[in-house]
Amino acid sequence: MTTLHDRRFYFVTGKGGVGKTTVASALALSLAARGKRVLICACNAKERFSSLFEAPPLGHDVVAVAENVWAANIDPARAMEEYGLMILRSRTVYRAVFDNRYVRSFFRATPGLYEWAMLGKAWFHAVEPSPDGAPPYDAVILDAPATGHGLDMLRVPKVIVDVVPPGILRRDAERAWEMFRDERQTGVVIVTLPEDMPVNETLELSQALTSELGLHVSEVVVNGMIPPLFSAPERASLLAPRDVTEGTPGGVAVAAGARRALRERIQAEAIARLGRELSAPKTYVPLYFGGVNGLGEVREIARRFA
Ligand SMILES: Nc1ncnc2c1ncn2[C@@H]1O[C@H](COP(=O)(O)OP(=O)(O)OP(=O)(O)O)[C@@H](O)[C@H]1O
Ligand SMILES: [Mg+2]
Repeated sequence: MTTLHDRRFYFVTGKGGVGKTTVASALALSLAARGKRVLICACNAKERFSSLFEAPPLGHDVVAVAENVWAANIDPARAMEEYGLMILRSRTVYRAVFDNRYVRSFFRATPGLYEWAMLGKAWFHAVEPSPDGAPPYDAVILDAPATGHGLDMLRVPKVIVDVVPPGILRRDAERAWEMFRDERQTGVVIVTLPEDMPVNETLELSQALTSELGLHVSEVVVNGMIPPLFSAPERASLLAPRDVTEGTPGGVAVAAGARRALRERIQAEAIARLGRELSAPKTYVPLYFGGVNGLGEVREIARRFA
């Protein structure tokens, strides 16, 4: 059976702010600890990789950020240019075609082209041969945009495969799409939180990925887990209607206990629902009360992927 660590390409997505970048970084360290050479790519983002890896700010060019880990923040216009140059093989021809106001505005206005430029670049890094014929990276992790945009990004190669006439663009999209659909090669990782709304959105996202696109969800990472302080009966009794207010003796503590019990109940229900409705393996990441600020926490989270 393929495990999370065996893939060549990882697509990490989920709702905004749930911890995608944190999880992508931890997954990178976990793969690197197994001796793999890993590239992590942000998508034209206000990137956080550099602060998590305690490295200088990232640009479009790939730089090393830790042992066996490289990173880049893909700029779609530059990715497009690289792709154009690769196909046209000449800067002069490229300039003649692309350095044109109309062509540029066509690209900006054509939905999905910039997304495909970023996804395609990340994919290309997973398959490109180095001079000795072996791919330079064992794994590429794409820290994809949040839910809707992440889905749009994955829709592009499918649309190209479905509607674009045969040619270079379609050939590359076909190769990429074949790899994305192969669960032994591609890991689709959804990051979520143990709460109602994020779980709803995760179930919808998973549905769209599997039914609409025919992809497999390889892993669900539930981020921000709080350690339960109360048993289920204690929670029930703390949450039972009562007459205590914060003004009465002991009321503040009881109210705090009730708030905590409510959060624990929501978390327990969210986990149970994810367990019932999604068969993909789950990884649970604790909530760090001081936030995730650097390599120390990211290394700890990486061990969760063992
Ligand atoms: N397990 C955790 N415990 C505490 N704080 C966390 C945890 N995971 C992430 N955070 C914090 O939550 C915030 C968002 O995390 P992160 O940037 O990884 O999310 P994201 O999904 O990539 O966000 P965006 O959608 O904006 O790209 C950050 O401030 C991070 O420090
Ligand atoms: Mg992010």
